Amino acid sequence: MKSSIKIYVLVDNSPAAEDGLLCEHGLSLYIESSDAAILCDMGASEAFIRNAEHLNVELESMDFAFISHGHSDHIGGLKDFFENYPQKQVYLSEHIANNSYTSARRGFKRDISPDHNVIKTHGDNIIPLYHSRWITPSVAFVHTNSTTYSTPRGNAFLYCKERTSTIDLLDDFSHEFALAIKVDKGLVIVSPCSHLGAANIISSCREFTEMDRVVAFVGGLHLVDSEVVGEEVSLCVKEIQSIAPKITLYTGHCTGDMAKQTLQEKFSDVKFFKTGDIITI
Ligand SMILES: [Fe+2]
Ligand SMILES: [Fe+2]
Repeated sequence: MKSSIKIYVLVDNSPAAEDGLLCEHGLSLYIESSDAAILCDMGASEAFIRNAEHLNVELESMDFAFISHGHSDHIGGLKDFFENYPQKQVYLSEHIANNSYTSARRGFKRDISPDHNVIKTHGDNIIPLYHSRWITPSVAFVHTNSTTYSTPRGNAFLYCKERTSTIDLLDDFSHEFALAIKVDKGLVIVSPCSHLGAANIISSCREFTEMDRVVAFVGGLHLVDSEVVGEEVSLCVKEIQSIAPKITLYTGHCTGDMAKQTLQEKFSDVKFFKTGDIITI
């Protein structure tokens, strides 16, 4: 049996080509693999549910949901998720229930934490991830252990603290996981924000799955617009291509416009997604 995957971009920062789809700063993907239908992240609000209806994606058919990390642009739709799908299970890092997150990117500290009341209320349906593991024969949740390669400079604005503490620390992103999905041609990696660095994430996925050939990387790269983003993108491209030279990069969300421009020039096979797109690999 041939195995490929189909990814519906339910929500992205970039608006859809057609009318009728909501757009917000956030990401939500619906993934149909050979042996599972997965909701990967839920954007910032209920927009992913409205857009799924519009795109005729039946979220009821999902086997489970997965949250890549604890930021509100990925887990903000959790309340609406449980209001609509109270029986479904959600996999996320063990750290998310106990941590709060802030962003200082706009010059003041802004709360980007998940809704902890929702996590507590639906605790029976929330399955904590402690380490990398297979969830089906072709889908793995992978925690990034590699620190060999660069991480996004935008991480310097992001803080984390235990909910019982008053001390904000720079976030180490131990709450971030990626999906590694086997297809005929190799491995597809889905990493919505890639705070731990795309090359580190690829390297950890290869190591955990024991699969060398990575055919595609899908997700945001957290390369935010700045004066030095060109330099940052060049390094990121060099690192990715040094370990996965034949990879196709599908990116959007937190990959800024300036980064996209440099990627277009430097990355041999890059595609930019937006709300409502369907990616088939
Ligand atoms: Fe994000
Ligand atoms: Fe993030």
